Amino acid sequence: MKIRWLVPEYERCDVLVLFAFEGEKDRLYENRWFQKHCLWLTESYAWDYFKGKNKQVFHAFAPRDAFVEKCVLAGLGKREVFSMDRWYEVVAEVVQRVTQLEGKSLAIPFPVLSIIKESAHDILREFLYAVFSLSYKFNRYKTAEEPAGEISEQIVLLEEEPGGALLDVLAYMDTIMGPVKRARDLITAPSNEITPERFALEAVSVAEAHGLKSIVISQKEAEEKGMGAFVAVARGSQKEGKIVILEYCPRGCENEKPIAFVGKGITFDTGGISIKPAQNMELMKHDMAGAAAVLGTMEAVGILKPPRRVVGIMPLAENMPDGRAYRPGDVLKTYSGKTVEVISTDAEGRLILCDALAYAVKTYSPAFIADIATLTGACIIALGDRVAGIMGNRQDVVERVRQLGEKVGEKFWPLPLWDFYGEDIKSDIADMKNVGNRKAGTIIGAVFLKQFIPDEIPWVHIDIAGPAWAEKPWFHMPKGATGFGIRTFMEIVKAWD
Ligand code: BES
Ligand code: ZN
Ligand code: ZN
Repeated sequence: MKIRWLVPEYERCDVLVLFAFEGEKDRLYENRWFQKHCLWLTESYAWDYFKGKNKQVFHAFAPRDAFVEKCVLAGLGKREVFSMDRWYEVVAEVVQRVTQLEGKSLAIPFPVLSIIKESAHDILREFLYAVFSLSYKFNRYKTAEEPAGEISEQIVLLEEEPGGALLDVLAYMDTIMGPVKRARDLITAPSNEITPERFALEAVSVAEAHGLKSIVISQKEAEEKGMGAFVAVARGSQKEGKIVILEYCPRGCENEKPIAFVGKGITFDTGGISIKPAQNMELMKHDMAGAAAVLGTMEAVGILKPPRRVVGIMPLAENMPDGRAYRPGDVLKTYSGKTVEVISTDAEGRLILCDALAYAVKTYSPAFIADIATLTGACIIALGDRVAGIMGNRQDVVERVRQLGEKVGEKFWPLPLWDFYGEDIKSDIADMKNVGNRKAGTIIGAVFLKQFIPDEIPWVHIDIAGPAWAEKPWFHMPKGATGFGIRTFMEIVKAWD
């Protein structure tokens, strides 16, 4: 997706997009930019019948001498109940109509957005992101020709050359689009293609492209280092497990404590010996969405080059049943030295994460750790599939991450981590069990991980079992992989001090 700006006099555009609140068509009509460029629209029936009702979408064809060919008019509903979520939904309707009209490029007049909000930079940013997001396609395995009609370009129409805040919006889009697309491609691609090794190769190529340091720990090295939990999970697969570490370190920050992002990278989760039911098991190819979000974040960090040190850790393995696979009842010695009794081999995410977290702590002594994982189906039951569960060892940090996410359209909701939950993972023979008794499944996942984080280090655990994958399109997400987490992680990197 290409995004650029344009002063209309210079060039003809394909599809122009305009908006109005219900009962506020006058505001659009009186807008200076509209008066200058769009009066022809008021001659059409589309204009007459358009009321601005929520998600009402009309289109009109322009006269041949206008600077656009087509115009899409979209209703925002009542101003009082407008929200970003509504904005995403309206933009989704617009994208659908533009596609029907075979629009290849879509033009949005920034001066008209002021009728939505005086300072409309966030409105514009989310519009551009939503159109990009909704236009995402994964055609790698389609051998027959795809029907045409994809939007490949967005043009921000301006009265004059853009200034600081607008340039920031355009620069933001340049930073974020590639990494989100990469994450979605990795998540969508099947597990026979995206093995731990392939993922690791891609991560290393991202590092090389942006001057990040990269380390790949092989399964054998992990074993030698004593990462018994990670290796136990990886062992059941013919595909070798890998742990990839990418580091961004600006000059002069070598001694700074980094922010560390740790993402679950199970390239396929069969459940192992505690095997999952067959129904929907194909979806478990997306069990590496946490690692993909971390890779996307590291790529975006490599592009943005912020003035702080950031580390991304991606433990990658396939969870398979096999003669060599780990079993329920096994006791594992983790990298931290603590022992874990395996009750379910399907609670594998926390096992690869606990070693990755302990490695982050030991190697980098981070200023802050966020882990992100498709960890528990229980999180979808608790919060639905558009919302990530968030837990941590400091309530103010949890709240801060929640707010940063809200700013960029990613929803996080806190769950408690009271000490008493720890009783549920007490083991008779080891330091802890890897699961509880089905109660509070999402919280228990976090309680387990908390055992590997020293109290001094601020930490959050993010469960994206819901929002990593959209079963049907929601808000500005297409069906399938969403790339959830990257945008919030970028906000954390920018805001952290
Ligand atoms: N990868 C799954 C969790 C999951 C389920 C992610 C649905 C996305 C959609 C995870 O490894 C798992 O199997 N968790 C178990 C935990 C249980 C054994 C404590 C679960 O959710 O049932
Ligand atoms: Zn599992
Ligand atoms: Zn899993």
